[in-house]
Amino acid sequence: MNKRRPLIAGNWKMNGLAADGAALAKAVADKARAGAPPCELLVCPPFTLIDRAIAAVKGSPVAVGGQDCHAAVSGAHTGDVAAEMLKDLGCAYVIVGHSERRADHGETDAVVKAKAEAALRAGLVAIVCVGETEAERDAGRTEAVVARQVKGSLPAGATPANLVVAYEPVWAIGTGRTPTPADAQAVHARIRAELKDLIGEAADAVRLLYGGSVKPSNAKELMAQADIDGALVGGAALKAEDFWGIVQAYA
Ligand code: 13P
Repeated sequence: MNKRRPLIAGNWKMNGLAADGAALAKAVADKARAGAPPCELLVCPPFTLIDRAIAAVKGSPVAVGGQDCHAAVSGAHTGDVAAEMLKDLGCAYVIVGHSERRADHGETDAVVKAKAEAALRAGLVAIVCVGETEAERDAGRTEAVVARQVKGSLPAGATPANLVVAYEPVWAIGTGRTPTPADAQAVHARIRAELKDLIGEAADAVRLLYGGSVKPSNAKELMAQADIDGALVGGAALKAEDFWGIVQAYA
């Protein structure tokens, strides 16, 4: 029996204007209000839509999170947002170390670790992202890369209550390609083994999400794997119907 409560999280990335964001959050919340969802639900809008999303999901089981945060509490960091600011708005989670942040903003494991620690300091759950590139996979280095990222990015003080790890192979993001469920499971098992080295038996209760081209048609098979405890969904999270179709993997 898997005692971890699954989490389906939508990462909206840099998409949506005010009206779209409010409507999407409301549509997800309405579905969640209509029947007890079989898993935990989270939407992560861009910063500009967080306030509206929080208003739209009020009274529903849908949580809201940020897509990134700065490591500092406040200060001269133009354009950045502190974990405390997200918490103040009503966020419960923040994604850190997404491969798009690692690639577009040169975020290293050390930077990601500092951001994850900021999340914990603020009382948010950190969703720490890891994943190999296609070249790393082709070179047979997938597990070594992912293990290094987990070790380097894990915040001090991580527990099953404040940490989620998302495995997102870079080559599977937005491409329609996914690893086979067995291949994804093997990487998740390696991540859990790595976590065990770092935080001991508590690793058994940490949720590990799979991300990369998850859609209603492939979610069930991926989510059925022993060490996959949910999904971090990009493109398919932008349509309430598709997002809800993925949630049905746990119905
Ligand atoms: P897609 O679901 O669009 O492949 O994106 C995955 C992702 O990067 C979620 O964080």
